[in-house]
Amino acid sequence: MTFNTLTTSLSDGIFIVTINRPDKLNALNMAVFAELNLVLDEITSNAAIQSVIITGAGSKAFVAGADISEFSTFSKEAAMQLSAAGQATFFRIENCTKPIVAAVNGFALGGGCELAMSCHFRIAADNAKFGQPEVNLGLIPGYGGTQRLVQLIGKGRAMELLMSAGMIDANTALQYGLVNYTVPAAELMDKAKAVLTIINSKAPLAIAACIRSANAVFNENVDGYAVEVAAFGDSFDTADMKEGTTAFLEKRKAIFTGK
Ligand code: COA
Repeated sequence: MTFNTLTTSLSDGIFIVTINRPDKLNALNMAVFAELNLVLDEITSNAAIQSVIITGAGSKAFVAGADISEFSTFSKEAAMQLSAAGQATFFRIENCTKPIVAAVNGFALGGGCELAMSCHFRIAADNAKFGQPEVNLGLIPGYGGTQRLVQLIGKGRAMELLMSAGMIDANTALQYGLVNYTVPAAELMDKAKAVLTIINSKAPLAIAACIRSANAVFNENVDGYAVEVAAFGDSFDTADMKEGTTAFLEKRKAIFTGK
């Protein structure tokens, strides 16, 4: 599959999706969103893809936000459609049954910070900068940023970042819990691959159930504890649960099949 605004590669079960508009600091225009949805179809349907890294092309930016040049002619209705469509894409990332990690190189601003926050977790290069600068433009985040920033770093810190348009560096993001690791920029992709290699060695259906259950915390329409009970029960119907428990008792490494 070839794209105009993204590049992809697959190696050892890890699918790398690179937003590829470096001359625009990888800003998210409508073409990027359309191609992200195609990529999500591929991630879902291709059994060879076990997990995913999303990153940005070049050393300067992960993604510097929504493409501001598309905004000037928008009506209120068009803006609401864009917001809903962007949210829907990021919901697909958040609820993907395969782990998706953001490898944040440089600026993750506006829609870039929102994209990173929709991933299951984040790893930052030491040059990463996070922020929601929309109020500089008379806007607010439209792709879930007001919600996920509060979920991830707490209301007080999120409120200040949202209202001040301030930027935080990688170390502050680590201290806030927005990212799991900061590493030298040259080691970013290796770190992300190393973390995913560990995850890829586990039972895929159990991984998917972890994602579903943990995401239920933030869905007020479902009882997360009930989701967990159902997922726990379902795991007893899987070949991988039988293999995992048998392998433990036989003191050998489990061989999971995703069944
Ligand atoms: N939308 C569209 N184009 C963008 C963009 C965005 N969100 N962010 C950067 N670009 C473009 C710039 O217009 C510039 O294009 P040009 O060379 O054709 O003029 C190019 O990317 C490089 O950006 P530039 O501003 O020259 O780089 P810088 O190093 O001086 O500044 C930033 C970097 C990230 C601080 C600055 O680009 C910026 O503030 N971007 C907007 C961030 C934002 O508000 N995001 C939320 C959008 S809702």
